Amino acid sequence: MQFELTEQQRMIKEAAADFAAREIVPIAAQIDEEERFPAEVVKKMGELGFMGMNVAEQYGGAGLDSVSYVLAMEEISKACASTGVIMSVNNSLVCWPIETYGTEAQKVRWLTPLAKGEKLGAYCLSEPGAGTDAAAQSTTAKKDGDSWVINGMKNFITNGANADTLLVFAQADPELKHKGILAFLVDADSEGFSVIRKEEKMGIRASDTAQLAFDNVRVDSDQQLGGDGQGFKVAMSTLDGGRIGIAAQALGISAAAYEASLEYSKQREQFGRPICKFQAIQWKIADMATRLDASRLLTYRAAWTKDQGARYSEEAAMAKLYASETSHFITNEAVQIFGGNGYSKEYPVERHFRDAKITEIYEGTSEAQRMVISSMELKK
Ligand code: CAA
Repeated sequence: MQFELTEQQRMIKEAAADFAAREIVPIAAQIDEEERFPAEVVKKMGELGFMGMNVAEQYGGAGLDSVSYVLAMEEISKACASTGVIMSVNNSLVCWPIETYGTEAQKVRWLTPLAKGEKLGAYCLSEPGAGTDAAAQSTTAKKDGDSWVINGMKNFITNGANADTLLVFAQADPELKHKGILAFLVDADSEGFSVIRKEEKMGIRASDTAQLAFDNVRVDSDQQLGGDGQGFKVAMSTLDGGRIGIAAQALGISAAAYEASLEYSKQREQFGRPICKFQAIQWKIADMATRLDASRLLTYRAAWTKDQGARYSEEAAMAKLYASETSHFITNEAVQIFGGNGYSKEYPVERHFRDAKITEIYEGTSEAQRMVISSMELKK
């Protein structure tokens, strides 16, 4: 067993931390307050290779392993969880399925600009009536000659209002249930596509979360990703990787809140001494540090398992479940350690606290992760 990062992985982590400190930390509070999508930062991240980290170099990616991706995600999310999820969706939920299930022509046309960061992707699975029950798709795809016509509504779509490329899931034959679901690559400038509204959110306010409408959107048959009967498998296997990304995002949020709390506890004095001298705070620090480390180990293991080419659904679900619940715990303790200051927007732990909550919900709620984990355990 090897717990050391490779030289290359260390360099990626440092490069991401350095970029985040220079370009993201200074604007993180402001873009959260203004609900402003950080287009200029995302563009620079594309130029540096952060938007297609695992994609092969021949398709414009950085050709790195999943552990490197997780390390970078953690550092970017530590600075700003909104920027973290923008990056995660493009890498895990859009680039990965195109590289895995796409034809050569699809990789050249769709994957390459996404991996280079010239275009941005969104993953369109959730619907008003299809949240945890993802197979209950009511968006339809109807064959018409050599094309498909898509009709329906998607909601809670990260990057939805800023994306150029949409990975859309739609039901082509309800009688086949989940095997009737197909996946399509759709240009956001297609006729009939529109952004209905953007959500006003508690956290990750600088990333857009949109409701989208597809009104007779016509796509060519070569825009279908994966074969007939494969759409749900594309969706589910993609979410396995997405969950590793969200675990890393949660890890970044936890690390930011923990480090800020540690520092604050050494500075803040009450009863004539720094509050870190009190056991009440020391026990919090011990629990926060231990859970942070456990989240990190689970997340790195999930990424490592993916790199081994083995199935990683359970490892990904465990990492996401634990890291997200830990980010809730750690950010709550951080606000408590900061006291009144923690509740104020003057200190970043207030933002971390709000950002943490969504990691227990999107890309599968904690309850959905428990369903995945228990179903795999019971098969053993
Ligand atoms: N990889 C490959 N195939 C998989 C799979 C995986 N990880 N998981 C399931 N499948 C396959 C199964 O093998 C099965 O195939 P067969 O019929 O051929 O045997 C098929 O899919 C159906 O499997 P299940 O019976 O387990 O499916 P289910 O309908 O009972 O779903 C579930 C179970 C775990 C609840 C699943 O629906 C789920 O994960 N729900 C949560 C959805 C989710 O995460 N949504 C978030 C969307 S993205 C988002 O948050 C917004 C954003 O923009 C970030």
